[in-house]
Amino acid sequence: MAFLTLQGISKRYGDFTAIEQLDLAVERGELLALLGPSGCGKTTTLQMVAGFVTPTAGRILLDGRDITQERPEKRGIGVVFQSYALFPHMTVAGNVGFGLEMRKVKRKERDERVAEALSLVRLNGLGHRFPKELSGGQRQRVAIARAIAMQPELLLLDEPMSNLDAKLREEMHIELRAIQKRLGITTILVTHDQVEAMTMSDRIAMMHRGAIAQLSTPYDAYERPSTPFASTFLGRTNAFPGEVLRRNPRCAEVAVAGTTLHVPHEGRQVDGSVNVYIRPEKVHLANGDARVRGRIATRVFVGNQWLLEVETELGKLRVAQPNLGAPPPEEGHEVGLAWTDDDLRVLTQDDRESAHGHA
Ligand SMILES: Nc1ncnc2c1ncn2[C@@H]1O[C@H](COP(=O)(O)OP(=O)(O)O)[C@@H](O)[C@H]1O
Ligand SMILES: [Mg+2]
Repeated sequence: MAFLTLQGISKRYGDFTAIEQLDLAVERGELLALLGPSGCGKTTTLQMVAGFVTPTAGRILLDGRDITQERPEKRGIGVVFQSYALFPHMTVAGNVGFGLEMRKVKRKERDERVAEALSLVRLNGLGHRFPKELSGGQRQRVAIARAIAMQPELLLLDEPMSNLDAKLREEMHIELRAIQKRLGITTILVTHDQVEAMTMSDRIAMMHRGAIAQLSTPYDAYERPSTPFASTFLGRTNAFPGEVLRRNPRCAEVAVAGTTLHVPHEGRQVDGSVNVYIRPEKVHLANGDARVRGRIATRVFVGNQWLLEVETELGKLRVAQPNLGAPPPEEGHEVGLAWTDDDLRVLTQDDRESAHGHA
């Protein structure tokens, strides 16, 4: 049985449904990310696990125990919320060690765990400072250290690195993930940052309008999105509306703007109106074997790659070319584009996605 289970969880505020019949199982030791756009219900879900918000319906089980009605402090869960209240009259070390002191952890072990946690968040040497003497990003790191020092069985992180600058955030992704693995702390990470979710998690639960749109490994979330929402939310993609002409054993023949594309369907049901997707990095400039020709409308250099927008008969195609060798032709030039059929993905257009009245 999973370590944490949410069964048919709903949350309504008046006649507004924030969470609709959500089921989720988190395995022991796993780091699961709740990823989704602002307002999709990530914080509400986390707060219900923490016990600060009561579900309207459903049950929450922690290690086999029904905690749905249990008080937050009884649940033994570590939380780092978006607003990370530190005790203003206590030093950084005092804040980080406070929970351990309450639990009567001996001085020596306490000092060690505080030092280790502070070093994890790169605040070694700042233990004597007071919260008001820290930047917002440093205070956020103290909150993370405080939760880690407790070594809780379940750790809930709500946008824990939103105030850190990009470089530090990247480093902390790697290090926090390493320590989470080493200590085996089952963790739910709420984020709207795709890179954070991709780098840190075992699985990503992509949320959309109060429900889970897809639950999969980061690799599958990116490579095998199962809904139009998931396709366009994670990473960048090109989407072309089309009609299925014929379904062959391996691929669907799809008419897109006067061209027929052969798209693998992996056994999924696809018919009628569909979208065909291809990632920008899977389209490349080609001469002889071009699938389509077009004119470069924009060309942007972002350091590790070039981003092109090419006007073609299929529509505007985004192309990402790694910065290896010569720069691509300039704006206004004609180019040929090629791809491998296996890199195309087809999904049935989902009318409900636009019609569904969550918000
Ligand atoms: N206390 C509340 N009363 C009414 N609506 C709320 C309350 N808390 C959250 N909501 C609504 O529920 C939806 C989900 O919110 P939230 O879980 O904070 O989203 P996220 O964390 O994904 O940005 C939002 O539309 C939000 O306005
Ligand atoms: Mg939130």
